[in-house]
Amino acid sequence: MSSFKTLDDLGDVTGKVALVRVDLNLPMKDGSVTDDTRIRAAVPTIVDLTEKGAKVLLLAHFGRPKGERVSTMSLSMVVGAVEKVLGKEVMFVPEIAGPVVEQSVGILRAGDVAILENTRFWKGEEKNDPELAKAIAANADFYVNDAFSAAHRAHATTEGLAKLLPAYAGRSMETELTALDKALGNPVKPVAAVVGGAKVSSKLDVLKHLVTQVDHLIIGGGMANTFLAAKGVDVGKSLCEHDLTGTANEILAAADSSGCTVHLPYDVVVSKEFAANPPSLRTCNVHEVAADEMILDAGPAATEALGDVLKTCRTLVWNGPLGAFEMVPFDAATVALAKTAAALTIEGTLVSVAGGGDTVAALNHAGVAKDFSYISTAGGAFLEWMEGKELPGVAALLV
Ligand code: 3PG
Repeated sequence: MSSFKTLDDLGDVTGKVALVRVDLNLPMKDGSVTDDTRIRAAVPTIVDLTEKGAKVLLLAHFGRPKGERVSTMSLSMVVGAVEKVLGKEVMFVPEIAGPVVEQSVGILRAGDVAILENTRFWKGEEKNDPELAKAIAANADFYVNDAFSAAHRAHATTEGLAKLLPAYAGRSMETELTALDKALGNPVKPVAAVVGGAKVSSKLDVLKHLVTQVDHLIIGGGMANTFLAAKGVDVGKSLCEHDLTGTANEILAAADSSGCTVHLPYDVVVSKEFAANPPSLRTCNVHEVAADEMILDAGPAATEALGDVLKTCRTLVWNGPLGAFEMVPFDAATVALAKTAAALTIEGTLVSVAGGGDTVAALNHAGVAKDFSYISTAGGAFLEWMEGKELPGVAALLV
């Protein structure tokens, strides 16, 4: 992995001003934060810097206000949640640059923390406007990026600032990059990838890249149906992108020439309706799906065989569920394979890395998220990383 500076490379920062890009794009309901995972992810960096005596200015976006001040997207709403997690008072500054920030910096004492307003209230943020970046940088001494989950955006506060100030990776960014490097950068082989989810179209680039990188590609969820259809299987009324069967065949051919084994379910759980424990529920061979049935999960025999594949592997990257896991019993394959991966990780034979919104929810549902080697808090950034793309926010930190 190319190198980047970390907080260990900082000299004496007592009284110095740190601009720290974090991800506070938090799930909220009725004005309250419903999941503080991303706040907790930022804590090690904030604590490290405050203990070193820096004045910490947190920069983050929230939602997509498109360059306008939208009161329902003000970061003032998350101050209470951040204070609760940090266990200390946090100042809110309704600007990101200019005299108001300058005055606030004057009021802050060494070791204090402030949250600046939603960076996306300014048009220059998403345009990566150098003038905006310059104005933000003017009030600080150095920049720390601790928001891997926003690193796929080349914005003023995720990329531009790194060019204007001494730039460091925060603790969370550092942990994330190290874990991801172990999973796909320099993994111990053999490597398996699980890619699930509803649509092939949303993960085409992921699949194309992975077949050149991994030894085993396990395809699950609705997207497996498109691959089955490409192989001539009649998938009945299952979710299936019939217009992408040609692309699916190209991916299968590319896997073949790279020596990647693609695993599709050979038994499946089907039903005539998508409902919890429906009366028409049955398990059958993929070649026995009736015209009025839909595939909603991988079957038990296929799931056991996939577990055996994982037992031969040393590294696993997981994105997306294997079935319609939000509805019982179509969570069975995802839960069973996740438990196998967790057990192998605990035994020490597998390095397991997972990411993406649905994936984290699925692994939490299986009760094994804590047992994986690493769970990424990123959604889009994790997918772009799985596509083999360079993330601008990460590239800007490299030295
Ligand atoms: C996320 O929630 O995945 C990140 O904060 C990025 O948000 P965005 O997709 O609005 O850029």
